Amino acid sequence: MEFDGSQTLIGKGAQADVFRYQGYAYKVYKNTYPAEWIAFEKEQQRAVNQAGLCPIRYYDTDDAHIIKMDLIEGEELEKKVLNGYIEGFGILADAFRKVHAAPIDGIKMPPLIATAGMGLSEEEQNKILPIIERLSQKYPSCICHLDMHFLNIMLPSDGSEYVIIDWMNSRIAPAIFDYARTYVIFDEFSQEGLAIYKQVIADDIKALGISDEDFQDALTVCAVIRKREKN
Ligand SMILES: Nc1ncnc2c1ncn2[C@@H]1O[C@H](COP(=O)(O)OP(=O)(O)OP(=O)(O)O)[C@@H](O)[C@H]1O
Ligand SMILES: [Mg+2]
Repeated sequence: MEFDGSQTLIGKGAQADVFRYQGYAYKVYKNTYPAEWIAFEKEQQRAVNQAGLCPIRYYDTDDAHIIKMDLIEGEELEKKVLNGYIEGFGILADAFRKVHAAPIDGIKMPPLIATAGMGLSEEEQNKILPIIERLSQKYPSCICHLDMHFLNIMLPSDGSEYVIIDWMNSRIAPAIFDYARTYVIFDEFSQEGLAIYKQVIADDIKALGISDEDFQDALTVCAVIRKREKN
């Protein structure tokens, strides 16, 4: 497909640019990005559409590296939080609750244990896979977004409910990993944000019966996976 020049850049990631064009959003991946990962992202999106977790539909284009998406008219929660909208943390906590409460019967999404070792050294695998197994036996599994942060939550300008985007990382796993993943991200970018984050999730972590030791273990897993992503 070709754009006619009227597209505008609305988002930029490591692997893709997102454009607004003729009433839709288009995610344009680098040509070097594997086409099967894009196909996987589309499958993930279908799964969360089906689970009622995200209304945004993905459509094929004639270019395997370009995904057409329903356009969200609005802004990232990040922008509002940076302007002092402290309630954004409450939305983040609510987003976790919503995702983790979704039914997983019939959902086509890989379990975390099946993919977590990809691209890791044997040593790293030996460090994290037993933790994932142990915690997966101890706590119930649910859909985990595994990249929940303020850039992946959009606030529609018409005032309708927030929309969680970017489901590429989501997996079936105990909720502890979702909370730990976001912890690791805050820890990288903002100690102030991390402190507030810890407060807003404390009750939910407690209600899930998650112990401090287990949370530390989940942090170890997420830190190792995060390191791989950045290399
Ligand atoms: N459907 C959409 N409507 C409006 N804006 C969007 C839409 N999808 C993405 N965006 C914008 O583009 C940004 C990047 O999109 P997205 O989070 O899907 O990509 P990414 O972070 O680069 O993804 P990945 O983690 O897969 O590399 C978002 O933060 C948002 O601002
Ligand atoms: Mg994103």
